Amino acid sequence: MSLSGKKIILGITGGIAAYKAVLLLRLLKKNDCDVTVVMTGEAEKFITPLTLQALSGKPVLRDIFSDAEHNGIIHISTASEADLVVIAPATANTIAKIRAGIADNLLTSIVLATRAKIMLAPAMNRVMWENSATQENIEVLRNRGFIISGPVSGFQACGDNGTGRMKEPQEIFNDIMAVLQGPSVPPEHERLLAGKKIVITAGPTVEPLDPIRFISNRSSGKMGYAIAEAAVAMGAETILVSGPVQISPPAGVKFISVNTAQEMHDAVMNGISDADVFIGTAAVADFRAASVSPVKIKKSAQNEELDIRLIQNPDILSRVGHSEQRPSVVAGFAAETDKLETYAIKKLKDKNADIIFGNDVSDKTIGFNSDQNEITVFSKDGRIIPLPKSSKKELGFSVLRLIAEALK
Ligand code: PMT
Repeated sequence: MSLSGKKIILGITGGIAAYKAVLLLRLLKKNDCDVTVVMTGEAEKFITPLTLQALSGKPVLRDIFSDAEHNGIIHISTASEADLVVIAPATANTIAKIRAGIADNLLTSIVLATRAKIMLAPAMNRVMWENSATQENIEVLRNRGFIISGPVSGFQACGDNGTGRMKEPQEIFNDIMAVLQGPSVPPEHERLLAGKKIVITAGPTVEPLDPIRFISNRSSGKMGYAIAEAAVAMGAETILVSGPVQISPPAGVKFISVNTAQEMHDAVMNGISDADVFIGTAAVADFRAASVSPVKIKKSAQNEELDIRLIQNPDILSRVGHSEQRPSVVAGFAAETDKLETYAIKKLKDKNADIIFGNDVSDKTIGFNSDQNEITVFSKDGRIIPLPKSSKKELGFSVLRLIAEALK
């Protein structure tokens, strides 16, 4: 399927990343999209409407009251015809307005008036991005079904280094392709999980020691996010509970962002009450600090050694496996560096799981942070099935085919 003829509204708000919107527009036009550019007044301080008009081949829409042809209802007509609204860059200010339902310019009015999917590509200073107001706004919008593309980390125009940079135009374009085309679902998997609810954990957990230090691990979230993407494609209502990672949640999931194992545990326990499936892909820290120092732990001549007492975190997979609200299928991953079969079978029993997906994380080409994995499936009925090395995205479908079989 191509993007030819897809009607896209490209909203541009006032940030330095606005110049990158020009490149995104070019990519969309090269792929024969029908693009209508809508700019805010602030965006015009960074790039000119003339450039965008020349590239889109259409007048740039800027003023809610200026278009007599549409009898003053331009935002309704433009909004209702779109397949997708993409706002790139989306400033903290516009994100906050959208969250609050404010419609004080043509772009925010279109956002309120459209039934199309809306993608936001945030771009702002890293402190503005980290601000709890912005984080809360993003969380709310994600839960309303907005697709959040980025931001990524790197050097910023203001001289800072951190998360807040807008994704590169090609990456945003790839996200647009995924949303408009849907992830490619192998025909044999199509709608196999329609009507089912799946809760998936992914990524690492982060256990604080003091306000700036923590215990964590190298999980990138790629395996769990791939399973979540496949679950959506196969028709499941999908809740993704994730520790902090650098990748964006797949479109269509209900996303719950957590930091600690305890937070992940609480979110999972809330989510499983009417779920059919739980899959624990997260690398959950087994231990946390018995007490978190409220101030930075300092070194001194008196403490050449430092003892930190650790206590066990709840075992989420085991709690789900033994819960009264136990979903029909409970599955977990086992990351092992040796004796994969012995440890995986022990986890299957100890955690009362139906399936354990074992991966050998001593092999650097698979497991943590790689794009590929190789899995051995240990099933409660004694079957051991190898899933050969392939991309995590492909394995996401293989994993869920086995889950769908177990649900029968
Ligand atoms: O995120 P990626 O970079 O793509 O890497 C993927 C992965 C290697 C992290 C993933 O494939 C994987 O193996 N995840 C499980 C890692 C792990 O911590 O395994 P474990 O053997 O410690 O735990 C076994 C199972 O119990 C897991 O399902 C884990 O989520 C769960 N668990 C563990 C501890 C705990 N306190 N609570 C849990 O629920």
